[in-house]
Amino acid sequence: MTQTKQEISKRKQDHLEICLSEDVDYRKTNGFERYDFPHFATTEVVYNEIDISTTFFKRKIDYPFLISSMTGGTGKAKDINYRLALAAKELNIPIGVGSQRLTLEDDKFKDSFDVLKKFSDSIPVLSNIGAAQVAKLKKLDSIKKITDQINASALIIHLNPLQEIIQKNGEPDFSGLIKNIKRIVKKIGIPVIAKEVGAGISAKAAEYLLEAGVKGIDVAGAGGTSWSAVELLRNKRSNDSIFWNWGLPTSYCIRTVNELRKKYNFVLISSGGINSADEIAKSVALGADLTASAKKVLIILNEGGVEGLIEYVKAMFEDVKKIMYLTGCESLKKLKKLILIRKEELF
Ligand SMILES: Cc1cc2nc3c(=O)[nH]c(=O)nc-3n(C[C@H](O)[C@H](O)[C@H](O)COP(=O)(O)O)c2cc1C
Repeated sequence: MTQTKQEISKRKQDHLEICLSEDVDYRKTNGFERYDFPHFATTEVVYNEIDISTTFFKRKIDYPFLISSMTGGTGKAKDINYRLALAAKELNIPIGVGSQRLTLEDDKFKDSFDVLKKFSDSIPVLSNIGAAQVAKLKKLDSIKKITDQINASALIIHLNPLQEIIQKNGEPDFSGLIKNIKRIVKKIGIPVIAKEVGAGISAKAAEYLLEAGVKGIDVAGAGGTSWSAVELLRNKRSNDSIFWNWGLPTSYCIRTVNELRKKYNFVLISSGGINSADEIAKSVALGADLTASAKKVLIILNEGGVEGLIEYVKAMFEDVKKIMYLTGCESLKKLKKLILIRKEELF
């Protein structure tokens, strides 16, 4: 069931095109609409003094926001990654690259990743490799190769069993995954983050990962881009498959994985359909340190260019600050302690 280099590169190109032209969202929500904010009429927060800067593995960043891993390994990826990185640098936020698997096999599209290296002094740049590749690793040289390629601040391992099992010629065999994550964590010298790609990470899966030494969990939950939808459309298969909507909603993942903080120290990232200020603020209130977004960022870049993307993120976080003002939270630390109201309590 393995794919050729040409097939992988074509698949990456299809992903970009499908995500920009088709409706591949979940037909269920990420669940944040089930919560409301406790409006605080006696707020004394001074709007201009609200601080939303934070740290990401000891590096200071200006917004609790990460441009999620997206592309690399196809013709258009170099330009997209370069423009995403320009926006990330201006905003002083981290950026992930798409799976670097192809780099290990072919030099043809190497520059689509290399282009990010020069940004790595200014902002955290994050490597990316899939669970299927990690599971069958023999030597760890290839991991060093991909992290050196972009001078990565952290390595992201993406877990995408749904995508692999739905995909034509997918690689759903993850046996050996946790053992190899342990090996990588011991050797690599930079933090390892585990992420899903839209179907969510449960508390039980997160515990396996944290026990293996992972230092960051990006839940990438359901409610945003559905990767089984992308693969179903790519292969012109029925789009009423029960798997279109398979997955754990982002808000559920954040709330339940956050419980593991009692036992583990890790960075918790909320993603999966995070497209608005209220979803960001609710994510933090439910426990996230950071939020992240992929498809929406790509669409905004495509429509508005680098400037448009910078403006989008800045405007969204002005709204996050307004939410913080209205709920009496002068800092992200305070927002994290905010107790949201479940909608059924309101009536
Ligand atoms: C065009 C595109 C390509 C992607 N490729 C990767 C990838 O190579 N590696 C990865 O970890 N995630 C990849 N993702 C998944 C995203 O990082 C993210 O987890 C997922 O899309 C859910 O977030 P969203 O709802 O904000 O899009 C990709 C997403 C998009 C839109």
